[in-house]
Amino acid sequence: MFQPEPWRVKVVEPIRLPTPDEREEHLVAAGFNLFDVAAEAIFIDLLTDSGTSAMSDNQWAGLMLGDESYAGGRNFYHFESAVQDVFGLPYFVPVHQGRVAENLLFSTLVRPGMIVPNNSHFDTTRANVESNGGEARDLVIDAARHPGEEHPFKGNVDLDKVRALFASPERERIPLAMLTLTNNSGGGQPVSLANIRGYAELCREFGVPFYIDACRFAENAWFIKQREEGQENRSVAAIVREIFSLADGCTMSAKKDGLANMGGFFASRDRALVETIKQRLVLIEGFPTYGGLAGRDLEAVARGLREVLDEEYLRFRITQVEAFGQGLIDRGIPIIRPTGGHAVYIDARDFLPGIPPAEFPAQALVVALYREGGVRGVEIGSVMFGRTDPETGEPIYAPLELVRLAVPRRVYTNSHLQYVTDVLESIRDHRDRLRGLRITEQAPMLRHFTCRFAEL
Ligand SMILES: Cc1ncc(COP(=O)(O)O)c(C=O)c1O
Repeated sequence: MFQPEPWRVKVVEPIRLPTPDEREEHLVAAGFNLFDVAAEAIFIDLLTDSGTSAMSDNQWAGLMLGDESYAGGRNFYHFESAVQDVFGLPYFVPVHQGRVAENLLFSTLVRPGMIVPNNSHFDTTRANVESNGGEARDLVIDAARHPGEEHPFKGNVDLDKVRALFASPERERIPLAMLTLTNNSGGGQPVSLANIRGYAELCREFGVPFYIDACRFAENAWFIKQREEGQENRSVAAIVREIFSLADGCTMSAKKDGLANMGGFFASRDRALVETIKQRLVLIEGFPTYGGLAGRDLEAVARGLREVLDEEYLRFRITQVEAFGQGLIDRGIPIIRPTGGHAVYIDARDFLPGIPPAEFPAQALVVALYREGGVRGVEIGSVMFGRTDPETGEPIYAPLELVRLAVPRRVYTNSHLQYVTDVLESIRDHRDRLRGLRITEQAPMLRHFTCRFAEL
């Protein structure tokens, strides 16, 4: 049945579609890189779901109760009880966003030459492992590498590969194991409870601490309730409690399922580890009862962590993204299947067969989306992951050329997404006229944020 938004609108934020001439000027001025276009010149912004959520009236009300004392402000205790109630994890520190929790954890546990397994590391997780001299190893199941293959839990970790790794001499070099819920780098795909249990058991058998990258924990739990046999009658809250009862702790960016615009935390059962981490926290974020956040922001996260378990909200959220993906499939636009929790990923290589990877087909589609509809998506392909082979000097392309359309939480209505679908349908009808791009300027690292292009 059609699923309407389970809220009504109390405050509106105007958005405006720039004229075609204005859009063209913005594209040229930005060197065809949408990261360099001002947000006010975007009509529908699907760049990310991170920090872009609309807060509820309850969260906004909480902001007024911000206690800005340096130490021991009341909002810290609200945050603490939310972490304990929702996740069942006893010790924690707040941080201003997820990557700081990763920094604290990995700088404490990872030393050069060590290996951290995961289903798929998110970019910041990988960078934090690598900047401590470690190797971030992805052990997601093979199905995740095939965009068209249907699988209910495409974020699952390959337990045979994990066992083989743990049973090998490399075990000595594994300080902890991670699992990302949902698997953002693999298309926002969920991990099943059975898989989490299996992974946790292997970690216990081999004495490896098990930590979860919890950014989209509620969306993952909703998928478990919908898709996993025997889970359909449990509450999402109970599923979340079970997931985290299996782990030693987690890193969390509250900019996703914390329904907040800023915030995060590190939580653990290991009191000594949290005490060690607090020393570094004081150095890089602030006193342990505020961790780089204002008291009012702590309150928004504390409320958001409880609110996100609302099953009417989750039903709408996941159904909205799924319907968006289905609308694209119905119009012959190829996407990664099944649709993930927070975004739709278009397979640009399949959609634009006339543009080879050397001419960045996914970036060409990102440009077309803005040019034709004022829509901002993000390239996840050879602009982001391509590089030059250091030995041969030949270019190496990404395995997939994707455009990610991430859906912010509670921000856009179904009709906004219908508009994006219509824009893509119109692009489909003249896709053979789209042009590839070449890079004219680029930074040595993370080039996708700042590089400039020329159209061919
Ligand atoms: C899976 C995952 N882990 C970690 C992070 C990092 O969180 P933050 O942007 O708050 O530093 C993100 C952000 O997008 C993410 O998606």
